[in-house]
Amino acid sequence: MTKLWVVKNEYNIEEPSIREAADLLRQGEQVAFPTETVYGLGADARNTEAVDGIFRAKGRPSDNPLIVHIAEEGMLFELATAVDEVSLRLARAFWPGPLTLVLPVRPGAVSPRVTAGLDTVAVRMPAHPVALSLIAAAGCPVAAPSANRSGRPSPTLAEHVREDLAGRIAGIVDAGAAGVGLESTVAEVGVDGRVHVLRPGGVTPAELARVAGCEVVVAGERAGGSGEGGGATGSGGGAAAAVADAAAGARGREAEGRAAPAGEAVHDDESFRPKAPGMKYAHYAPQGRLAVVQGGRAEAVASRILQELDQARAAGEVTGVLAPEEHAHLYRDRADLVVSCGSLRDPESTARELFAALRRFDEAGATCIFAEAFAEEGIGLAVMNRLRKAAANTVIKV
Ligand code: TXA
Ligand code: MG
Repeated sequence: MTKLWVVKNEYNIEEPSIREAADLLRQGEQVAFPTETVYGLGADARNTEAVDGIFRAKGRPSDNPLIVHIAEEGMLFELATAVDEVSLRLARAFWPGPLTLVLPVRPGAVSPRVTAGLDTVAVRMPAHPVALSLIAAAGCPVAAPSANRSGRPSPTLAEHVREDLAGRIAGIVDAGAAGVGLESTVAEVGVDGRVHVLRPGGVTPAELARVAGCEVVVAGERAGGSGEGGGATGSGGGAAAAVADAAAGARGREAEGRAAPAGEAVHDDESFRPKAPGMKYAHYAPQGRLAVVQGGRAEAVASRILQELDQARAAGEVTGVLAPEEHAHLYRDRADLVVSCGSLRDPESTARELFAALRRFDEAGATCIFAEAFAEEGIGLAVMNRLRKAAANTVIKV
């Protein structure tokens, strides 16, 4: 049985539901809770059995490490052996908030299951009063991946957690919709002195660059943040390969994969080794096939989607379209389900709505789905990262 608590006053640390949930965490149970990004599935990060329960409940591969959540800065120094100056500056600027920092782990500070045997640990302080109260009341670092079954879109509502995990975890703390709607930015300061974004998220590369005062490079994506063209430009011959394999670069290992000429824009290239562990796995995918349609002209994108829809319908598919609200009307009579996902004028709204939108295609039994690509600026970088993953990189360029 999974307990459901509805938090009435999220700023009340004495809230009985938060105390009950914290007691369960201390006893080694798994409890889902809201953060400002998505709902997380928490367990005591020091307790191997408790952490194992997270992997079991989610069906998550054990080589994909977890983020450890803290409620105050002191906990950071208990988890990491050393916090370099840039990481500390980033933590102080963005915590509590949607930034996860990868740092050298203090031996014995967390269960080896949390780090999947790596010598680093990913740490973040969430900006949600319920999450902060819960962690403080539990009195332990809380390992928490997103509270979805592995492979599914991350939950932005307690209802999504219930859909995926009811009966598999001890409880769910419901405090309404999560904020950003996409997971935190995962970043690591490399031995090369640059900030490597391993997963784009709520804090953009430009925001990181402003605080870090050094170059910010985005693993396997369009680089950005400092200078024009971002991290791919201006460095020596192997720069692009190092950017595309940020984890290896960050740890000072030799970058694998094909080197692009210096100065060339760096795009996703699946031939490169995964940068953050876990990036090799399918994520966020609806049950139907999903293709992203991308092009410079909105008319060309729409007409290609309409053409694909007609073909798919003729082939007996249940069709779906994901598009910004300004374009949704274009597809209404040509697809079985049209889900609008935020407004072109408000990219944050797209981030907030994306995961819930993806879930709707499964409810409708869509077998063939087309999504309009979104602009890859600011939070749009994270939106497109998730959308491409949901589509297993099927991108139709027009
Ligand atoms: O917003 C979030 O970050 C949410 C909420 C619940 O806080 N959590 C979340 O956790 O998204 P999860 O487990 O779904 O994502 C963890 C990410 C993965 O991409 C994983 O590979 C990366 O963090 N990660 C964890 N430990 C790492 C490490 N030591 N080095 C590099 N990447 C790491
Ligand atoms: Mg996740």
